[in-house]
Amino acid sequence: MHDQAERLRQLTLAADAQRKIVKQKKIPRIISIASGKGGVGKTNLVVNLAIALSSLGKRVVVMDADLGLANVDILLGMLPKYNLLDVVQGNKSLEEIIVTGPEGIKIIPGGSGLVELANLAVDQRDRLMTSLLRLENTADILLIDTSAGLSRPVLSFITAADELIIITTPEPTAITDAYGIIKVVSKYNIHQEVKLVVNQVKDYREGRDIARRFSEVAHKFLQINTKFLGEICIDQHVVRAVKEQQPFMTLYPKGRASCDIQNIAEKLLDISPEKTRGIRGFISRLSRMTEK
Ligand SMILES: Nc1ncnc2c1ncn2[C@@H]1O[C@H](COP(=O)(O)OP(=O)(O)OP(=O)(O)O)[C@@H](O)[C@H]1O
Ligand SMILES: [Mg+2]
Repeated sequence: MHDQAERLRQLTLAADAQRKIVKQKKIPRIISIASGKGGVGKTNLVVNLAIALSSLGKRVVVMDADLGLANVDILLGMLPKYNLLDVVQGNKSLEEIIVTGPEGIKIIPGGSGLVELANLAVDQRDRLMTSLLRLENTADILLIDTSAGLSRPVLSFITAADELIIITTPEPTAITDAYGIIKVVSKYNIHQEVKLVVNQVKDYREGRDIARRFSEVAHKFLQINTKFLGEICIDQHVVRAVKEQQPFMTLYPKGRASCDIQNIAEKLLDISPEKTRGIRGFISRLSRMTEK
C-alpha cells in the first residue's frame, strides 16, 4: 500500500517535471482539427481559435491542409501567391510562402503541395521537412485544418499531430461521422485522447449533452478519453463574417461565437497535452505515414 502510494507520488513528480520541460523548452503543440462530416465548422474554428490563442500570447501557425479548396485563405480574404508546393519544389523558402493574418497569426498555404505529399520524391520530402523544422523555434502552437472524412492524407496528419480536436454539430449524421473518426483512431491506436468541440448548438445545454453522450460511448466502446473543449452557439455573426471574408473574432469580438471561441482557447491552454513530440516528431511521423 505504502509502496503504491510512493510509486504514484514518483509518477506525479515525473509528469510534473516533463510538463516543466515542455514549458521551458517551448516545444510547439501540434494539433490537427478534423470532422467526419464536411461543412461543420473546422476552418472557422481553426482561424478564430488561432486568433484567440494569439491574443492570449501564443505564437500560432495555421497549416491549411485541406486538400480541396484552400479554405483558410478564403475565410481570411487572402490570395497567397505561393504555397507548400513551391517549398517542395525548391522555388521558395517557408518564410517566403507564410502569410501573416489578423493578430499576427501565421498561415502556411497548403494547396496542391499537400495533395502530392504522399508522392514526393525523397529530396522534395527532405526539403519540406527541413523547412518545417524552422517552426520549432518560432511557433508555440501549430493548428492543422484538414479536409472532412478520413482520406489517407487526413489520416496522416491526424497521426502525425500530437493532439486531435474533433468538431461536430448536433446533427445526428455529423455525430455518427465523428464516431467514425474515433473508431479509426482507436483501432490503429493513434491517440488515447481526443478533444471535442460541438458547433452550431442552440444553447449550452445541447452542447454539454452531446459531449456527455459522446464521451460515454467513446470511453465504453473505444477506450478513448474525450476532453470537452466547449460548444459554439449558432450565431449569425459567423455567417456574416464568412461573407465578408473576415474572421468573426476580429469583426464581432463581442458576439456569442467569439465568446465561445475565447472559452475554448482558454480551456485548450488549461489542458496539458498528452504528448508533445514537437515539429521533429511530427515530421518523422508524417514521412513514415507517407512512405507506406
Ligand atoms: N457557429 C456557427 N453559427 C452559424 N453558422 C455557422 C457556424 N459555424 C459554421 N457555420 C456555417 O457553416 C459554414 C461552414 O463552415 P466551415 O467552412 O468552417 O466548415 P468546414 O468544416 O471547414 O467545411 P469543409 O469540410 O468544407 O472544409 C460557414 O460558412 C457558416 O455559414
Ligand atoms: Mg474547411
